[in-house]
Amino acid sequence: MAQLIAANWKMYKTMAEATATATALAERLQGRIPSHREVLVCPVFVHLAALAPILRDAGIALGAQDVYPADEGAFTGEVSPKQLQDVGCTHVLVGHSERRHILGEADALIAAKTRVALERGLAVVLCIGETLTERRSLQLEAVLFRQVSSALTDLPAAVTERLIVAYEPVWAIGTGEVATLEDIDAAHGLVRRMLRDCLGASAAAVRILYGGSVKPDNAGAILQLDTVDGVLVGGASLDAESFARIVLA
Ligand code: PGA
Repeated sequence: MAQLIAANWKMYKTMAEATATATALAERLQGRIPSHREVLVCPVFVHLAALAPILRDAGIALGAQDVYPADEGAFTGEVSPKQLQDVGCTHVLVGHSERRHILGEADALIAAKTRVALERGLAVVLCIGETLTERRSLQLEAVLFRQVSSALTDLPAAVTERLIVAYEPVWAIGTGEVATLEDIDAAHGLVRRMLRDCLGASAAAVRILYGGSVKPDNAGAILQLDTVDGVLVGGASLDAESFARIVLA
């Protein structure tokens, strides 16, 4: 199973900056992506179509940061799975902690997004993770279980081959605070067990990424953990050189 090295550009960059970063990344990675790695970049919606050809030529996949769980309709401001695929997306992030905590997305909406996007053929990176308060009050397992089971229960086995889970402790996102290797290993072990409970045998094919202050200097050690199948990178993915170093770590 190839490791997935994913960039989440969040709400950063103008079109000119996004194009320049994608071009620089494509130049650095052209023909150099290790065979055991896959690379994904998730820019804002309005840059997707422009970046698609630049990334595709370098073998880098394109993903959106969100999706609406319907094919079309009166959903002002939203974007459907088909519209994402139409401009070259193969992946989409769902349930990122900033959407859960800043935009107030609830488990039921995240479950609908996960299911519909998978059914329409997108690979979904389902993001989960606990806040510092939840961790300190010993709710890590309960929170992860709620997030995993609400999104994945009753998913048809045929679509789980496109499912990816990103464990991102909220307290480690954008804070420079990285979870220890022991914390990451333990949480990934829990998530793997929950995936088996929800999905049965098909859980084995689901990759579990770590996210939260991944940088060029800590990516190598994190990616060496047996329980880690890739990383989801925010801040350190905004610079082509820094993200390329993570891909090659
Ligand atoms: P960070 O963000 O790498 O800046 O901590 C990770 C994420 O939000 O996916």
